[in-house]
Amino acid sequence: MKNIVLIGFMGTGKTIVGKQLAKRLGFNYLDIDREIEKNTGMTISEIFQTQGESRFRDMEAEAISATSGLSNTVISTGGGAVLRSENLRCLRENGILICLSAKPETIYERVRHSKSRPLLQTEDPLNTIRQLINQREPYYRQADMVVETDGLSPSQIVDEIINSIKGMKHGNS
Ligand code: S3P
Repeated sequence: MKNIVLIGFMGTGKTIVGKQLAKRLGFNYLDIDREIEKNTGMTISEIFQTQGESRFRDMEAEAISATSGLSNTVISTGGGAVLRSENLRCLRENGILICLSAKPETIYERVRHSKSRPLLQTEDPLNTIRQLINQREPYYRQADMVVETDGLSPSQIVDEIINSIKGMKHGNS
């Protein structure tokens, strides 16, 4: 079986949904940000602080490229992983790309108390979220399927993904 790759903005539930989805499907689970943290022994915030975003993007691309031999795995990516076309190409090679989406206000409510997202430590995080989503929308739209997560619980999102995958296999999508 192909991998299932979750892409989408910060705070759309990629991690929690990814873990639950993997359990339901009997798949392995891999989180790209956690792989980077394991490889470096640093948190994502520390990497941004000490090495900068561009070096973080290199590490992200390396961690994604290292997934190329995997199958039967749910892979959660960081919200900016879509920015490099080589990442999308690699993930698509043996995976179905599913984008989780949510309104900026919903995302803001979910992440406003989190200190672990360096790009949102700004004066006006809601505005930052709006701007980044606007910039990234064309990349997120390249997914095989988009799930709107506003108002849905993680288990409802998992149900929706599983139903859509079944639909894809039967050629209904
Ligand atoms: C980022 C999203 C984060 C993490 C890093 C950069 C982004 O992952 O990779 O802070 O550029 O959107 P999550 O989407 O899991 O929060």
